[in-house]
Amino acid sequence: MEKLKLSSTLSVSRIALGFWRLMDWKISLKALEHFVEDALQMGVTTFDHADIYGNYQCEPEFGKLLKHKPGLRDQFQLVTKCGIKLKSDLFPDLGINHYDTSAHHILKSVDRSLKNFNTDHIDLLLIHRPDPLMNPAEIADAFWQLKKSGKVLNFGVSNFTPLQYEGLNKYFDGNLVTNQVEISPYCLEHFENGNIDFFMNEGIHPMAWSPIAQGLLIKPTDEKSRRIVKKLEETAASLDVDGIDKIIYAWLLYHPVKIIPIVGSGKIERLKSAVDALQINLSREQWYEIFIASKGYPLP
Ligand SMILES: NC(=O)c1ccc[n+]([C@@H]2O[C@H](COP(=O)([O-])OP(=O)(O)OC[C@H]3O[C@@H](n4cnc5c(N)ncnc54)[C@H](OP(=O)(O)O)[C@@H]3O)[C@@H](O)[C@H]2O)c1
Repeated sequence: MEKLKLSSTLSVSRIALGFWRLMDWKISLKALEHFVEDALQMGVTTFDHADIYGNYQCEPEFGKLLKHKPGLRDQFQLVTKCGIKLKSDLFPDLGINHYDTSAHHILKSVDRSLKNFNTDHIDLLLIHRPDPLMNPAEIADAFWQLKKSGKVLNFGVSNFTPLQYEGLNKYFDGNLVTNQVEISPYCLEHFENGNIDFFMNEGIHPMAWSPIAQGLLIKPTDEKSRRIVKKLEETAASLDVDGIDKIIYAWLLYHPVKIIPIVGSGKIERLKSAVDALQINLSREQWYEIFIASKGYPLP
């Protein structure tokens, strides 16, 4: 599997695997072990987490696997996030869910993640969402401390605008390595808000969350998703490809910015579909047909 070099200490697999829904999968430790080993076998070595996933349960659940099989840790790149505070047992006094990108919270969150995962380092830490109160100088200060201590090797952001990215990157001496945003044939937002242009200009490879639009592109429920699915089915038929999920991943992989889709499925055959998509050659026209189906009107 192709790797993308994001920094001197981080190369990620072209397809990443997300663990947001781990607690919904309801799988045993043994089944998780097999799932992770099969993913690694396919060359999928970048695993995406966040402190808050599964009401703060996903990190410790995954950590049980690393405690049981510590030898796995060197075989993948561990990505996690911080900056959102959810009402939970962890924060019993919290009145409302909100964002916290203070240095104090970032440092505490990383210590908790390391403990959860039973590991001594995180390969990539992302600020989960832009915080209206964020102070880039303070975030960068926390990042420098974490880098110096070796607790976190690389840093990035998620759901940031170009301006927010640049603001933080200025204080972090240009060391941010990625921005994780929602991209799919259903969600074209970042083609329209300048983010994809910014990534191209800066040589940033974005990670794409919800590549199947959280399942909506498999089970369409509105006019837009039905339009896209119809076009995906036609494209799959014309290329003799079994499964529109493969066409969705091929559509994401086609873009020259080198989007890294994060597969959200807990089923190994669905992860394999994403890997298989690396072999599909869409034409430029096919890419546009899907883009136009999403927009719902022809291009000028
Ligand atoms: N940074 C952020 O703000 C942010 C936000 C959301 C997500 N993320 C990350 O992105 C990852 C992916 O997001 P996502 O889970 O929303 O991805 P997704 O792939 O768009 O959606 C996954 C959902 O679609 C279903 N699905 C996927 N492939 C399918 C297929 N071929 N056929 C039928 N159903 C299919 C899955 O069910 P099955 O499990 O049954 O296959 C699951 O319910 C997350 O795990 C997380 O790591 C980040």
